[in-house]
This record gives sequence, C-alpha cells and structure tokens, in this order.
Amino acid sequence: MPKPQNLYFERLSEHFGLVIESRGCSVHDLSARFIREAYDTGGAVLFRGFRAQLDDFDVLTREMSHKLFSYQGGVFNIGRFARSEVPGRPSILTATGTVQDFAIPLHGEMYYLQHPPPVLWFYCDKDAETGGATTVACAGQFYDELDEKTQEFLGQQKIKYQRHLDEAEWTRLCQTNDRQRAELFAGSLGNDISWQHDGSMIMEYMTYPLIRDRGRTLYMNSMLPAIFAESSNLEPGSLGNRRLPFVVRSESGKPISETIVAALIKVQNKIEIPLRLAPGDMLVVDNTRVLHGRRSGTGSRRVVYVRFGKMRDLES
Ligand SMILES: [Fe+2]
Repeated sequence: MPKPQNLYFERLSEHFGLVIESRGCSVHDLSARFIREAYDTGGAVLFRGFRAQLDDFDVLTREMSHKLFSYQGGVFNIGRFARSEVPGRPSILTATGTVQDFAIPLHGEMYYLQHPPPVLWFYCDKDAETGGATTVACAGQFYDELDEKTQEFLGQQKIKYQRHLDEAEWTRLCQTNDRQRAELFAGSLGNDISWQHDGSMIMEYMTYPLIRDRGRTLYMNSMLPAIFAESSNLEPGSLGNRRLPFVVRSESGKPISETIVAALIKVQNKIEIPLRLAPGDMLVVDNTRVLHGRRSGTGSRRVVYVRFGKMRDLES
C-alpha cells in the first residue's frame, strides 16, 4: 500500500463518490482490498493522476473481477451510436458513439436487460478538446429530488423497452438463425417476442424503473438514453436504412409524457456531477446505485474505454 501522504482523498458529494488522487503512485501500488473498500464506501471512485496505461487498466480490472461481461445484448450497435470491442482486448469496449459530440443523459447501464452488469469501469485514453465530461449521480438522490407526481408515476407502473432487431441482429443476439430457438432464448431473458413481415424481431422487456435497496428507493433504469435517441435529430443516413432500434414506453404502450421527461431532465441537471477525465484516469461505478452519462464534447480526440464486470469476493 502507498503511504497516505502519496494519496489525496476527496468526496465527490455528500451523497456518494470519492476522488483518489495520486501524488506519485501508480495503480500497482493500490491493493485490491483498498480499491474494493473505496468502491464499497463511495459507489463511484475516480482514480486521478495515476497515469495508467491501457495495459494497467486491463490487468487491474481483471484482478478485481469475478466475471467480465461482453456487450452481448447491448443496444448501441448501430450507426453513429455504435460501440465496439477493442481489438485484442476482449470485453474492453469503446464508449458509445463512433463520434462523441452528443450528450448521453443519466442512466443505469443495460437496465433494458434482465441482468445488467453490476460494475462499470472507465478508462480515459484521450480527453475531448472541450467538454465531453463523464457524469455521475446518486440514484437514491435522483429519486428523492423528483416531484411527487413523477415519483408516483414511476412507482405505480412498469415500463417497456422495445427493440427492433433485423435478421442479422437477432441471429447474433440469440446465437441461432432458428426462430423457435431465438424465441426460447429471448424469452428466457424475460422478453416478449413478435415477428415482422421482413423477418425482423420486436423484442420487448417490461420492468420497473425504480429499485428498492436497503429500505431506499432508487431511480435506476435506461429510460433517458432511449428517449434521447428517439427524439434527437438524427442526421440523414446515420442509421443507414434502419428504423430506430430502441424505444421506451409506459406500461400501457404510450410514449413517456413530456411532463415526466421534463421532470427527469430537471433533476438530472440539478444533481449530476461532471468528471473531466484526463488521459490515464480511471473511474469505477456501482451500476446498482450510481447513474452515469456524458456531456457533449467537441472534436474527435476523446477516447474512453469501458469494461463491465462483477466484483470478485476478497478473501478475509
Ligand atoms: Fe452507459
């Protein structure tokens, strides 16, 4: 372990989060127990000034993880929203978007699937010319700050994530080109399936937008990016000849009302904390209690990698 004088600690806010700044330490000076305790305490930990290389990030995240997740089942795999695996680095992914000039509102990662990854690791290779901050917020605080009507709406019904997958996509997602097997696979993950005339599949996952944790209600879902993707002015051809592949609806099938969306955006703008990641910085986020997103940036320089995992238990 490094001597305490070689590390500087700061809380991100009174609700959650920790910044650990290096004064001459490398990430290899940090023990797994130290990182785990900081993560358990903070829910989100920014490791600043450690000047980590991608190799360091690869090794550290493997050491800390019981399991690493691929992006199988992920929605952002089309047009300008695409993310991809880094060659030779299985399960390290580029951040969402072939260009990253658009903002991504606060969300829990992959809450449109039955089993979202519990832990998100971020590594900054290059920062944006301007802007491009990664944003985080406490999911419990998000809920607490909502007005009563919005809390009521979110608490009383489920929401539906609807995905439109062309033949190549459902074949890849379900790892079969047999429709019956595809239905069984998608169904086992809690989805309802319907088939379209052109051979594409509509996959629908219904779930609650709130979760309960130790007596507290948390706003934890992937609603806002879906609403953002549907309402944003997509450039012509940005999705090729595809229809929009991902939308969110209320339990009755209606779009989420503008009043609810405005209430969510208002709270987001009030509580999100922007983190300007510098090259070599790392961030770990508890995807069961901390929301994350991104502000828009300029230029094409920003390169941030992510890895999804599950923490391994530490021997006592
Ligand atoms: Fe995300």
